[in-house]
Amino acid sequence: MSIQDKKYLLAIDQGTTSTRAIVYGENLIPIASDQTEFQQFFPQDGWVEHDANEIWQTVVTTIKGALKKANLAADDIAAIGITNQRETITLWDRNSGEPLHKAIVWQDRRTTDYCAELKKAGHEETVTAKTGLLLDPYFSGTKAKWLLDNVEGARDRAAKGELAIGTIDSWLIYKLTGGASHTTDATNASRTLLYNIHKGEWDLDLLDLLDIPAALLPEVRDCAADFGQCDKDLFGAAIPITGVAGDQHAATIGQACFEKGMIKSTYGTGCFAMMNVGDKPLASSNRLLSTLCYQLDGKPTYALEGSIYMAGATVQWLRDGLGIIESAAQVNDLAAKADNTQSVYLVPGFVGLGAPYWDSDARGAIFGLTRNSGPRELARAALESVGYQTRDLITAMNADFGDDVSLLRVDGGMTASNMTMQFLADICQVPVDRPTNLETTAKGAAYLAGLHVGLCPPPQDMMEKWELDQQFTPQQSADWATQKYAGWQDAVARTLSTHS
Ligand code: G3P
Repeated sequence: MSIQDKKYLLAIDQGTTSTRAIVYGENLIPIASDQTEFQQFFPQDGWVEHDANEIWQTVVTTIKGALKKANLAADDIAAIGITNQRETITLWDRNSGEPLHKAIVWQDRRTTDYCAELKKAGHEETVTAKTGLLLDPYFSGTKAKWLLDNVEGARDRAAKGELAIGTIDSWLIYKLTGGASHTTDATNASRTLLYNIHKGEWDLDLLDLLDIPAALLPEVRDCAADFGQCDKDLFGAAIPITGVAGDQHAATIGQACFEKGMIKSTYGTGCFAMMNVGDKPLASSNRLLSTLCYQLDGKPTYALEGSIYMAGATVQWLRDGLGIIESAAQVNDLAAKADNTQSVYLVPGFVGLGAPYWDSDARGAIFGLTRNSGPRELARAALESVGYQTRDLITAMNADFGDDVSLLRVDGGMTASNMTMQFLADICQVPVDRPTNLETTAKGAAYLAGLHVGLCPPPQDMMEKWELDQQFTPQQSADWATQKYAGWQDAVARTLSTHS
């Protein structure tokens, strides 16, 4: 069968806690999916690791699972799109394909001191000017240096060209193609701290600064491009891989935010708001990131991004840490019973605070407890923390973009909660649009793959196909929002590590 005769696309969504494979039919309608969680390793306080081989196995099993559920063979799939947790980095042997160490996850803080040293030495301005990012352990570059410095023999072997490094997309492409392709896309590259977003290439000065040999790095391609073909022995057909984007970028594409000024906010483990700012990067004066939105036909489109580490993960903490709910879904019922006269604020700095504070040393805090406060008020404070943090980001975006955000498109698991979405609209004072398809990340990856093989229409047509499920409009006054938000700002100020 030629590609033109095939109607199906397959997306791999490799996230922080689970891997999913989704098969799409015509018009990007999902027809079957499979999902598997994998182990999280916390070897020290602030360290987070994944087993790259285990991730690879979850990809193989979920692809097979999704094909089986769809009652399709690999040969029915026209193309694969990959989207992935970003910044997480792995180092492997080019010949054996074996990782030399566990992958270091985006949430890992082990390079906090090294980032502080670089800042102290005055490097942040240059790094930000070239990459649009900040000197924070979140990004891959300092983690890559840690691997080279700490894995025995890695530097020598890297110098001999025996090793390869990459973000999870790159690792999966390498494994899927049986080692034939060591590639990545521009969005994933833009999260490494090593990629010059203006020139669209690995930056030799930054590689020098972090002491990372260029030969270790993958080749960078557009988001819709030829990344190689699956090894036929894996699934029974040499399916081409033709779409790749980091998960937040894929979600922006899946939300059809193809015009300048459009913004989406995804509520998964963390929360990531991304605004399309057009064909020129916009340097942030408000501690947001300037990054690639997507790159098609060699033309980059840029974005402003606000990254928050804890959204759904705060609800997980209520379940696993506090034990006040048994399942994440119970949080809404509990929060709905909270006493409205109490002003309890939960600042979820469990792993530090991301944008716009970038405080790796901050830790979580709760304010405003009274003798009447209990699980209900904590549940509500946890959900509300997502709204407050989003307002932090929108405030920064308004200031950077010079025009106020007038509409927020949302997606991700937490957006199923009407109460959380209504609070979001009230506290941000903007309408919140929830689409019918909440799985926008995987949809974006499938779209990119389909675009390259001619199965999906150009971006403009995708915008017309976007479907609204429900719009949440602000029901509270601007004064109410200002007053509630002032309480949050005060709580954050008291949580920052610089607070004395
Ligand atoms: O930057 C990290 C982000 O890509 C992780 O996303 O959905 O796996 O929490 P998620």
